Amino acid sequence: MMQNKEHLISRSVAGITVSAIKDMAMRSAGIKGVASLTWGLPSFQTPAFIRQAVAEVLDTDPDIGKYTLPDGLPELRRLVAEKHLQETGIEVDPDKQVMIHAGNMQGLSTLIRVITDPGDEIIVTDPGFASHFHQVHLYRGTPVCWPMDESLGWKLDVDALAGLITARTKAIILVTPSNPTGTIFTETELRAIGRIALDHDLLILLDDPYSKFTYGNKDRFFNLASVPELADNIAYCFTFSKAYAMSGWRLSYTILPEFLKCEVLKVHDARIICAPRISQVAGIAALAGGTAHLKEFEDILARRRDLICRRLDSVPHLFEYVEPEGAYYVFPRLLVKHESSYDFAIELLAKAKVAVTPGSAFGPSGEHHVRMAYCVEEDVINTAFDRIEALYPCGR
Ligand SMILES: Cc1ncc(COP(=O)(O)O)c(C=O)c1O
Repeated sequence: MMQNKEHLISRSVAGITVSAIKDMAMRSAGIKGVASLTWGLPSFQTPAFIRQAVAEVLDTDPDIGKYTLPDGLPELRRLVAEKHLQETGIEVDPDKQVMIHAGNMQGLSTLIRVITDPGDEIIVTDPGFASHFHQVHLYRGTPVCWPMDESLGWKLDVDALAGLITARTKAIILVTPSNPTGTIFTETELRAIGRIALDHDLLILLDDPYSKFTYGNKDRFFNLASVPELADNIAYCFTFSKAYAMSGWRLSYTILPEFLKCEVLKVHDARIICAPRISQVAGIAALAGGTAHLKEFEDILARRRDLICRRLDSVPHLFEYVEPEGAYYVFPRLLVKHESSYDFAIELLAKAKVAVTPGSAFGPSGEHHVRMAYCVEEDVINTAFDRIEALYPCGR
């Protein structure tokens, strides 16, 4: 009989579970023929110009197998600063304000570790990205839920924000377009959030995987990192995972106020020393190579978004949903009889070989919803819905 080893595990780790997104992905990986809408893993291959540049460097650069400086290759940081200037109009110092990370998950986890003492509070949208909740819990902080209003298209209630702030509040995490709802927060909302953050001297952690996927809503997107007054109160985190189809390379960057980069360096070095050099070289190729591939990615994703919305429209007895404005998720409410979104997801996987993520993973407001990722091939979307329709025929 296995001895109980619970006493060896820290309470903060024992107190969380593996993210439901990865849990469903792992459960479904062993199921032959599964149609998976569970993980936001784009079907795209890393663009050829990036892969080719890396292949060349592998043969020619004698340093390719070596560590880089903890904050990343100087050339990559320089290109990042250039990109940031182009996108936001804000000039940053590549040495003092740019950090290269192994993905936004690692960058944010580091930032949250840097700012959180046990009992500190971090405001997260509800629904919000499942892993943000976990990261705050891991450092014995408290995620404070800021509900979004589904009846108003998953809008944020900016007037409610100040009421959530206490003496323990350290930061607000924002993702726009949102994962899991696809909502793009408006400039007015974001500027108001920025003012509140300044009034209370809080940090805004802006997690940006999806700003390149806004389809016909480009005009609605606003990057809060472009507000000069917020420079000392914002950490902007951009990942190559989605916009460059580089999720497996594990590469991202953060733009930080100087006082924060000094602290981030300590945690980053203690954990991983540096992001993998080969991925940083890929990042240099990505930023030097331009964004022509993005149009193709977006066109394909726009077609998949139309398809999934059409398929949802054809099963109004099962789901009710807000049309997503950006990113590549839709977050329908379950109308079919169920106990919890988790039970529904498990039943759907077992009976129909369709994987979705239970909405409860994204906060209390996510219960009775599921998240569907439409970054997969059209075939997968169609197979998933054919099976859902067969399992829950109209009138059942
Ligand atoms: C909101 C959000 N943040 C971070 C990540 C992870 O990003 P990365 O691959 O850069 O760690 C994801 C991935 O789905 C995400 O949706």
